[in-house]
Amino acid sequence: MLTNVIQIVLSPPRLVARRLPNNLFQITEQKGTKAFHKNIPENDLEKWFDSTFQPPFKQAQVYTETADYHILLDKKGERKIIKKPPTKNSDNLSHNRLKKTIVDEPFFQKLGISKDKKNQVNKFLELFNDVIDELPKNAKIVDFGCGKGYLTFALFEFLKEKKVDCSITGIDSKIDVIDKLKNNNIHLIAGDIKDYNEPFDVLIALHACNTATDIALEKAILNKTKIILAAPCCHQELHKQVKSENLNPLLKHGILKERFSALATDAIRGLILESCGYQVQMIEFVDFTHTPKNILIRAVYNPRPSNMAKAKDHLREFIDFLNVNPTLMKLRNAANTR
Ligand SMILES: C[S@@+](CC[C@H](N)C(=O)[O-])C[C@H]1O[C@@H](n2cnc3c(N)ncnc32)[C@H](O)[C@@H]1O
Repeated sequence: MLTNVIQIVLSPPRLVARRLPNNLFQITEQKGTKAFHKNIPENDLEKWFDSTFQPPFKQAQVYTETADYHILLDKKGERKIIKKPPTKNSDNLSHNRLKKTIVDEPFFQKLGISKDKKNQVNKFLELFNDVIDELPKNAKIVDFGCGKGYLTFALFEFLKEKKVDCSITGIDSKIDVIDKLKNNNIHLIAGDIKDYNEPFDVLIALHACNTATDIALEKAILNKTKIILAAPCCHQELHKQVKSENLNPLLKHGILKERFSALATDAIRGLILESCGYQVQMIEFVDFTHTPKNILIRAVYNPRPSNMAKAKDHLREFIDFLNVNPTLMKLRNAANTR
C-alpha cells in the first residue's frame, strides 16, 4: 500500500506527509499558528507511518499513483482499509508546485502594487496553498471587499498555474474601482457584501473594513462554505462595548483596550466559526512591521458535534464576561431565530 505514495493525511489532528523530489517526504505538523516541517527519506515512510498512525489519530488518507486508501483506526489500533480509484497524480504535488506558492514578479509589476501589499498577497497565497487539497472540484471562490483586486487576480494566476479549475468572483462597493478592473476571467461585482446571496465554496477577504469581515463570515457560515481565509481589518466595534470589572486594569489604558478589543473580536469570530462546525486557526500572516492588521483566520468546514458544543459554551461564557454583542454574534442570532 505504501508504494508510489504521493501524499498521506492523518487526522485528527492533521498531519500531512507530501512527496518531494530526491526520494524525500516532507512531514508538516500544525501546532497552533505555527507549521513545523521535517523531511524523511522515502525508505523510512512506512516505518514513520506505522509508528505515527496510532490513536488518537482516527483516520488516514493515503494517496498513491494507483489507488487512494481510506484507513480507519479503532481504539485498539485495528485498521480497516477502504480502497478507491486514485484521485491525485504526482504532477500536481511535485516539489515545483509546492515551491511556487507565489506569483511571478512581472505579474505584480503589471498591477502596480506596493511592496507591503505584495508581501501580504504572497503570504496569503502561501496560506491558501496549505489548504488547497480541501478545495472542492470547480470551487467557487469569492473575494469579499476585493478593492483593486490584487489578491483576486493573484489568486486567479496562482490557481491557473496549478491547473486548479475554479471560478473567482470579486465584490466591492467601490463602483469606480470595479469598473476599471474589467477582466474576462474574473467575475467582478460592484455592490455591498451584504447583498451577495449566491452559494460559494471559498471565502477570501483581505482587510475588508471593520464589520465587512463579519458580514462575509456570516455568508460563509450560512453556505457551509468549505474554506475561509480572512485577514480582518481595523476593529472598532468591541472597543466601544467591552466592559468588565475584572479587566479594568487593562481596559483603563486606551492602547491596551484597543489591542485587547481587536484580539477579543477575532477570538469571538474564531469561537463562532468553531461552534458552526469549522476547524479554526489564527495565523500571523505577515510581520507586524508590515502591517499591524496581520492576523489571518483560516477555517475549514469539518463539523464535529462535540467540538461545536464545546465552542458554543466557551463563546457564551466569553461574551458574558466581556458584556459585548459583536456584529457576527448579532447576525448569528438573527439567523437562528429566522
Ligand atoms: C482596505 S480595502 C482592501 C482591499 C483588498 N482586499 C486589498 O487587500 O487590497 C477594503 C475594501 O473593502 C471594501 N468594502 C468595505 N466594506 C464593504 C462592503 N460592505 N461591501 C463591499 N465592499 C466593502 C472597500 O470598498 C475597500 O475596497
